[in-house]
Amino acid sequence: MVVRGNRSPEYYREQVFSLTNLPTLPIIATEILRSSHEDNLSVNQLLPIIEKDPPLAMKVLKIANSAYYGLKRDVKSLRHAIIVIGMRELSNVAISFSVIKDLSHDIGGYHISWKQFWKHSVACGYVAQLIVDELGISTRSNIYTFGLLHDIGKLALYRIDPEGYIEALEFEKYNKCSSCDAEKEIFGVTHSDVGWWMAEKWKISEEIKSAVGYHHHPEKVSDNELKMYAALTQVADLVCNFRSLNFGSECDFSIPVEAAGWKILQQEYESLDKVDFESFVSGIEDELKTIKEMVGLLQT
Ligand SMILES: [Fe+2]
Ligand SMILES: [Fe+2]
Repeated sequence: MVVRGNRSPEYYREQVFSLTNLPTLPIIATEILRSSHEDNLSVNQLLPIIEKDPPLAMKVLKIANSAYYGLKRDVKSLRHAIIVIGMRELSNVAISFSVIKDLSHDIGGYHISWKQFWKHSVACGYVAQLIVDELGISTRSNIYTFGLLHDIGKLALYRIDPEGYIEALEFEKYNKCSSCDAEKEIFGVTHSDVGWWMAEKWKISEEIKSAVGYHHHPEKVSDNELKMYAALTQVADLVCNFRSLNFGSECDFSIPVEAAGWKILQQEYESLDKVDFESFVSGIEDELKTIKEMVGLLQT
Protein backbone atom coordinates (compact mmCIF):
# COMPACT_ATOMS: atom_id res chain seq x y z
CA MET A 1 0.00 0.00 0.00
CA VAL A 2 1.36 3.40 -0.98
CA VAL A 3 -0.13 6.31 0.89
CA ARG A 4 -0.32 9.79 -0.59
CA GLY A 5 3.16 11.13 -1.25
CA ASN A 6 4.57 8.33 0.89
CA ARG A 7 3.83 10.37 3.97
CA SER A 8 4.30 8.86 7.38
CA PRO A 9 1.92 9.16 10.35
CA GLU A 10 4.55 11.45 11.87
CA TYR A 11 4.01 13.85 8.96
CA TYR A 12 0.33 14.19 9.86
CA ARG A 13 1.09 14.58 13.55
CA GLU A 14 3.47 17.40 12.73
CA GLN A 15 0.91 19.00 10.46
CA VAL A 16 -1.66 19.00 13.24
CA PHE A 17 0.78 20.76 15.56
CA SER A 18 2.22 23.21 13.06
CA LEU A 19 -0.51 24.13 10.59
CA THR A 20 -1.90 27.54 11.24
CA ASN A 21 -5.11 26.95 9.30
CA LEU A 22 -6.09 24.22 11.72
CA PRO A 23 -8.73 25.57 14.03
CA THR A 24 -8.23 26.02 17.73
CA LEU A 25 -10.91 25.10 20.22
CA PRO A 26 -12.95 28.28 20.77
CA ILE A 27 -12.35 30.13 24.03
CA ILE A 28 -16.01 29.82 25.04
CA ALA A 29 -15.90 26.04 24.72
CA THR A 30 -12.56 25.85 26.55
CA GLU A 31 -13.84 28.02 29.41
CA ILE A 32 -17.05 26.04 29.85
CA LEU A 33 -15.25 22.70 29.70
CA ARG A 34 -12.63 23.84 32.21
CA SER A 35 -15.12 25.29 34.69
CA SER A 36 -17.45 22.31 34.53
CA HIS A 37 -14.58 19.89 35.00
CA GLU A 38 -13.10 21.66 38.01
CA ASP A 39 -16.35 22.38 39.73
CA ASN A 40 -20.01 22.26 38.92
CA LEU A 41 -20.61 25.04 36.45
CA SER A 42 -22.72 27.79 38.03
CA VAL A 43 -25.15 30.24 36.46
CA ASN A 44 -22.87 33.08 37.49
CA GLN A 45 -19.95 31.48 35.66
CA LEU A 46 -21.90 30.69 32.52
CA LEU A 47 -23.82 33.94 32.09
CA PRO A 48 -20.85 36.27 31.56
CA ILE A 49 -19.35 33.78 29.08
CA ILE A 50 -22.50 33.88 26.96
CA GLU A 51 -23.00 37.62 27.34
CA LYS A 52 -19.60 38.21 25.77
CA ASP A 53 -20.87 36.72 22.52
CA PRO A 54 -24.00 38.54 21.23
CA PRO A 55 -24.81 36.11 18.35
CA LEU A 56 -24.63 33.24 20.84
CA ALA A 57 -26.86 35.11 23.31
CA MET A 58 -29.38 35.65 20.50
CA LYS A 59 -29.28 31.98 19.62
CA VAL A 60 -29.95 31.02 23.24
CA LEU A 61 -32.97 33.34 23.41
CA LYS A 62 -34.26 31.99 20.10
CA ILE A 63 -34.05 28.44 21.37
CA ALA A 64 -35.71 29.33 24.69
CA ASN A 65 -38.55 30.95 22.73
CA SER A 66 -38.93 28.08 20.28
CA ALA A 67 -42.01 25.91 20.02
CA TYR A 68 -39.90 23.10 21.46
CA TYR A 69 -40.12 24.61 24.94
CA GLY A 70 -43.73 25.65 24.30
CA LEU A 71 -43.82 28.73 26.55
CA LYS A 72 -46.58 31.29 26.24
CA ARG A 73 -44.55 34.13 27.66
CA ASP A 74 -41.62 35.70 25.81
CA VAL A 75 -38.18 34.86 27.14
CA LYS A 76 -36.29 38.13 26.97
CA SER A 77 -33.36 37.74 29.34
CA LEU A 78 -30.53 35.22 29.46
CA ARG A 79 -31.28 34.47 33.10
CA HIS A 80 -34.82 33.52 32.19
CA ALA A 81 -33.50 31.46 29.27
CA ILE A 82 -31.33 29.48 31.67
CA ILE A 83 -34.39 28.61 33.75
CA VAL A 84 -36.26 27.52 30.64
CA ILE A 85 -33.49 25.57 28.97
CA GLY A 86 -31.53 24.36 31.98
CA MET A 87 -27.81 24.64 32.71
CA ARG A 88 -26.68 21.50 30.98
CA GLU A 89 -28.55 22.26 27.80
CA LEU A 90 -27.33 25.81 27.83
CA SER A 91 -23.69 24.78 28.05
CA ASN A 92 -24.26 22.34 25.19
CA VAL A 93 -25.75 25.08 23.05
CA ALA A 94 -22.88 27.45 23.88
CA ILE A 95 -20.20 24.85 23.15
CA SER A 96 -21.81 23.70 19.89
CA PHE A 97 -22.49 27.18 18.66
CA SER A 98 -18.92 28.36 19.22
CA VAL A 99 -17.31 25.15 17.93
CA ILE A 100 -19.42 24.98 14.76
CA LYS A 101 -18.97 28.68 14.01
CA ASP A 102 -15.21 28.79 14.59
CA LEU A 103 -14.29 25.44 13.13
CA SER A 104 -16.36 25.76 9.98
CA HIS A 105 -15.08 29.22 9.26
CA ASP A 106 -13.89 29.55 5.71
CA ILE A 107 -14.19 25.90 4.83
CA GLY A 108 -15.31 24.88 1.36
CA GLY A 109 -15.46 21.54 -0.42
CA TYR A 110 -17.93 20.65 -3.14
CA HIS A 111 -18.15 17.01 -2.21
CA ILE A 112 -18.62 17.48 1.48
CA SER A 113 -21.51 18.92 3.35
CA TRP A 114 -20.03 20.22 6.57
CA LYS A 115 -23.55 21.09 7.66
CA GLN A 116 -24.39 17.39 7.67
CA PHE A 117 -21.14 16.64 9.41
CA TRP A 118 -22.08 18.98 12.28
CA LYS A 119 -25.66 17.73 12.41
CA HIS A 120 -24.32 14.23 12.94
CA SER A 121 -21.79 15.46 15.51
CA VAL A 122 -24.44 17.34 17.50
CA ALA A 123 -26.80 14.34 17.34
CA CYS A 124 -24.01 12.06 18.54
CA GLY A 125 -23.40 14.39 21.50
CA TYR A 126 -27.03 14.23 22.54
CA VAL A 127 -27.21 10.48 22.07
CA ALA A 128 -24.08 9.97 24.19
CA GLN A 129 -25.68 12.05 26.93
CA LEU A 130 -28.92 10.13 26.61
CA ILE A 131 -27.13 6.79 27.03
CA VAL A 132 -25.33 8.07 30.12
CA ASP A 133 -28.67 9.16 31.57
CA GLU A 134 -30.27 5.82 30.69
CA LEU A 135 -27.48 3.88 32.36
CA GLY A 136 -27.38 6.18 35.36
CA ILE A 137 -23.68 6.94 34.98
CA SER A 138 -22.69 9.91 37.09
CA THR A 139 -19.72 11.83 35.77
CA ARG A 140 -18.29 15.30 35.72
CA SER A 141 -17.12 14.94 32.15
CA ASN A 142 -19.01 16.80 29.49
CA ILE A 143 -20.37 13.76 27.69
CA TYR A 144 -21.99 15.87 24.99
CA THR A 145 -18.54 17.03 23.83
CA PHE A 146 -17.48 13.41 23.19
CA GLY A 147 -20.06 13.22 20.42
CA LEU A 148 -19.65 16.77 19.21
CA LEU A 149 -15.93 16.31 18.64
CA HIS A 150 -15.71 12.57 17.88
CA ASP A 151 -15.08 13.00 14.15
CA ILE A 152 -13.10 16.24 14.38
CA GLY A 153 -10.14 14.43 12.80
CA LYS A 154 -12.09 14.37 9.52
CA LEU A 155 -12.23 18.13 9.45
CA ALA A 156 -8.52 18.31 10.27
CA LEU A 157 -7.62 15.79 7.55
CA TYR A 158 -9.63 17.85 5.10
CA ARG A 159 -7.75 20.99 6.12
CA ILE A 160 -4.40 19.26 5.81
CA ASP A 161 -5.10 17.74 2.39
CA PRO A 162 -8.50 18.59 0.83
CA GLU A 163 -7.91 16.61 -2.36
CA GLY A 164 -6.74 13.57 -0.45
CA TYR A 165 -9.76 13.77 1.78
CA ILE A 166 -12.12 13.83 -1.20
CA GLU A 167 -10.24 10.86 -2.60
CA ALA A 168 -10.80 9.02 0.69
CA LEU A 169 -14.53 9.80 0.58
CA GLU A 170 -14.72 8.44 -2.96
CA PHE A 171 -12.74 5.35 -1.98
CA GLU A 172 -15.15 4.75 0.90
CA LYS A 173 -18.21 5.05 -1.33
CA TYR A 174 -16.80 2.96 -4.14
CA ASN A 175 -15.49 0.16 -1.95
CA LYS A 176 -18.35 0.34 0.59
CA CYS A 177 -15.81 0.31 3.36
CA SER A 178 -15.59 2.24 6.61
CA SER A 179 -14.25 5.79 6.68
CA CYS A 180 -11.27 4.56 8.73
CA ASP A 181 -10.34 1.91 6.14
CA ALA A 182 -10.54 4.47 3.34
CA GLU A 183 -8.43 7.01 5.24
CA LYS A 184 -5.86 4.37 6.12
CA GLU A 185 -5.60 3.53 2.43
CA ILE A 186 -5.18 7.12 1.26
CA PHE A 187 -3.34 8.75 4.18
CA GLY A 188 -1.96 5.87 6.20
CA VAL A 189 -3.68 7.38 9.25
CA THR A 190 -7.35 7.64 10.26
CA HIS A 191 -9.53 10.49 11.50
CA SER A 192 -9.31 8.93 14.97
CA ASP A 193 -5.50 9.27 14.96
CA VAL A 194 -5.73 12.85 13.77
CA GLY A 195 -8.53 13.57 16.26
CA TRP A 196 -6.28 12.31 19.06
CA TRP A 197 -3.52 14.71 17.99
CA MET A 198 -6.01 17.58 17.76
CA ALA A 199 -7.15 16.81 21.32
CA GLU A 200 -3.50 16.75 22.41
CA LYS A 201 -2.88 20.07 20.74
CA TRP A 202 -5.96 21.59 22.38
CA LYS A 203 -4.92 20.16 25.75
CA ILE A 204 -8.43 18.94 26.47
CA SER A 205 -9.28 16.35 29.09
CA GLU A 206 -8.11 12.73 28.87
CA GLU A 207 -11.77 11.67 28.76
CA ILE A 208 -12.50 13.67 25.61
CA LYS A 209 -9.16 12.63 24.11
CA SER A 210 -9.99 8.93 24.54
CA ALA A 211 -13.51 9.39 23.21
CA VAL A 212 -12.21 11.13 20.09
CA GLY A 213 -9.11 9.02 19.54
CA TYR A 214 -10.63 5.59 20.22
CA HIS A 215 -14.29 5.86 19.21
CA HIS A 216 -13.69 3.20 16.54
CA HIS A 217 -11.54 0.97 18.77
CA PRO A 218 -12.51 1.38 22.43
CA GLU A 219 -11.08 -2.07 23.20
CA LYS A 220 -7.58 -0.65 22.71
CA VAL A 221 -7.84 1.72 25.68
CA SER A 222 -6.18 0.28 28.77
CA ASP A 223 -7.63 2.49 31.51
CA ASN A 224 -11.08 1.16 32.43
CA GLU A 225 -12.85 4.46 32.88
CA LEU A 226 -11.41 5.94 29.69
CA LYS A 227 -12.28 2.74 27.84
CA MET A 228 -15.89 3.14 28.93
CA TYR A 229 -16.00 6.69 27.53
CA ALA A 230 -14.59 5.55 24.18
CA ALA A 231 -17.11 2.67 24.15
CA LEU A 232 -19.94 5.04 24.94
CA THR A 233 -18.94 7.30 22.05
CA GLN A 234 -18.79 4.36 19.66
CA VAL A 235 -22.25 3.19 20.73
CA ALA A 236 -23.68 6.73 20.40
CA ASP A 237 -22.20 6.88 16.89
CA LEU A 238 -23.71 3.49 16.03
CA VAL A 239 -27.12 4.53 17.33
CA CYS A 240 -26.90 7.63 15.11
CA ASN A 241 -25.99 5.57 12.05
CA PHE A 242 -28.68 3.05 12.89
CA ARG A 243 -31.40 5.69 13.13
CA SER A 244 -30.39 8.00 10.28
CA LEU A 245 -28.89 10.55 12.61
CA ASN A 246 -25.83 10.53 10.40
CA PHE A 247 -27.56 12.84 7.93
CA GLY A 248 -25.66 11.19 5.13
CA SER A 249 -22.31 12.21 6.61
CA GLU A 250 -20.95 8.80 7.47
CA CYS A 251 -21.69 5.32 6.34
CA ASP A 252 -20.33 2.93 8.86
CA PHE A 253 -20.73 -0.66 7.85
CA SER A 254 -19.95 -2.21 11.20
CA ILE A 255 -22.64 -4.35 12.79
CA PRO A 256 -23.64 -2.76 16.10
CA VAL A 257 -23.87 -5.99 18.12
CA GLU A 258 -20.38 -6.96 17.07
CA ALA A 259 -18.87 -3.61 17.95
CA ALA A 260 -16.44 -3.66 20.85
CA GLY A 261 -18.13 -0.61 22.39
CA TRP A 262 -21.47 -2.34 22.80
CA LYS A 263 -19.83 -5.38 24.41
CA ILE A 264 -17.84 -3.18 26.80
CA LEU A 265 -21.00 -1.35 27.92
CA GLN A 266 -22.84 -4.66 28.30
CA GLN A 267 -20.11 -6.05 30.53
CA GLU A 268 -19.98 -2.90 32.59
CA TYR A 269 -23.72 -2.31 33.04
CA GLU A 270 -26.03 -5.05 34.23
CA SER A 271 -29.09 -3.33 32.81
CA LEU A 272 -27.68 -3.93 29.31
CA ASP A 273 -26.48 -7.44 29.93
CA LYS A 274 -29.34 -9.31 28.26
CA VAL A 275 -30.54 -6.49 26.02
CA ASP A 276 -29.87 -6.65 22.30
CA PHE A 277 -28.84 -3.51 20.48
CA GLU A 278 -32.07 -3.20 18.47
CA SER A 279 -34.34 -3.36 21.51
CA PHE A 280 -32.10 -0.87 23.28
CA VAL A 281 -32.56 1.57 20.40
CA SER A 282 -36.33 0.90 20.30
CA GLY A 283 -36.47 1.76 24.01
CA ILE A 284 -35.07 5.23 23.38
CA GLU A 285 -37.05 5.94 20.20
CA ASP A 286 -39.00 8.92 21.61
CA GLU A 287 -35.86 10.54 22.95
CA LEU A 288 -34.18 10.09 19.57
CA LYS A 289 -37.05 11.97 17.93
CA THR A 290 -36.55 14.81 20.40
CA ILE A 291 -32.83 14.82 19.58
CA LYS A 292 -33.65 15.19 15.89
CA GLU A 293 -35.71 18.28 16.77
CA MET A 294 -32.88 19.72 18.87
CA VAL A 295 -30.41 19.23 16.03
CA GLY A 296 -32.74 21.19 13.76
CA LEU A 297 -33.02 24.01 16.32
CA LEU A 298 -29.29 24.39 16.64
CA GLN A 299 -28.76 24.53 12.93
CA THR A 300 -31.32 27.18 12.04
FE1 LIG B 1 -15.63 8.34 13.39
FE1 LIG C 1 -19.50 9.58 13.50
